[in-house]
Amino acid sequence: MHDLFSVKDKVVLITGSSRGLGAGFASGFAEHGAKVIVNGTNQEAVRQTVQAIKAKGGQVFGYAFDITDSRQVILKIAAIEEEVGPIDVLINNAGIHRRAPLEEMSEADWRQVIDLNLNAAFIASKYVAQGMIARRQGKIINITSLMAEGARSSTGNYAAAKGGLKMLTKAMATEWGKFNIQVNAIGPGYFKTELTQSLAADPQFDAWVKQRVPAERWGEPSDLLGAAIFLASKASDYINGQTIYVDGGWLAAL
Ligand SMILES: NC(=O)c1ccc[n+]([C@@H]2O[C@H](COP(=O)([O-])OP(=O)(O)OC[C@H]3O[C@@H](n4cnc5c(N)ncnc54)[C@H](O)[C@@H]3O)[C@@H](O)[C@H]2O)c1
Repeated sequence: MHDLFSVKDKVVLITGSSRGLGAGFASGFAEHGAKVIVNGTNQEAVRQTVQAIKAKGGQVFGYAFDITDSRQVILKIAAIEEEVGPIDVLINNAGIHRRAPLEEMSEADWRQVIDLNLNAAFIASKYVAQGMIARRQGKIINITSLMAEGARSSTGNYAAAKGGLKMLTKAMATEWGKFNIQVNAIGPGYFKTELTQSLAADPQFDAWVKQRVPAERWGEPSDLLGAAIFLASKASDYINGQTIYVDGGWLAAL
């Protein structure tokens, strides 16, 4: 009973975890005894996040690489599995926004958002799953968004990517369930991070969020940890292809 939700000594790779929600997952999993792999493209930011978690006694390892570059992904996954151990849990968290009305959006902004928020999750999952399939065990958690359910103006690329990631979650669950791999998603509501800095700094937007969400506040990174630990532990071994929205009740309310 006690280890139903345990992630102790599990090797957890969190993409884009040098800051924001990913750094929250990294420090939370480390506090619960996991061996955490911090990733991001900025070597110095990865180092600092690793240091901060280490200072609190966590088991943590830094691997800076670009998750959209499949050659780097293949090399680094092999290095992680050799140096730290087989990856038990992959959290596809790295994501970006590039806002513009669709009729004005550059192709570069469209492609970049799809490439990181959707294509990179496929690439990382493909190469991590190969080992999981061989071991007949694994957990993959995709970080989607409220925008997997509904769009907002100027976020067409992001909504398309997150909606795609929700369906990729179901596709991976469908194909890999027979190998005892569970693939689920977490859809965060509005959380204050660098990604949403410009929105939170806008008093009108800030007031709209607080008025729109039943919880009447923005989410904190720690609000996501319970769902992530549940989906990473054996407590969720028969749950596959689902999205848990951690949104303060946003989607429940009209
Ligand atoms: N903040 C929110 O309110 C919110 C809401 C819903 C969903 N999300 C999703 O949560 C995830 C994390 O968002 P955040 O708010 O923490 O963002 P953030 O901008 O604060 O952090 C993004 C992280 O991704 C990393 N990254 C960027 N490009 C990368 C690449 N090519 N390879 C590897 N790492 C890369 C960055 O280094 C950084 O660590 C994203 O997928 C985002 O879409 C966030």
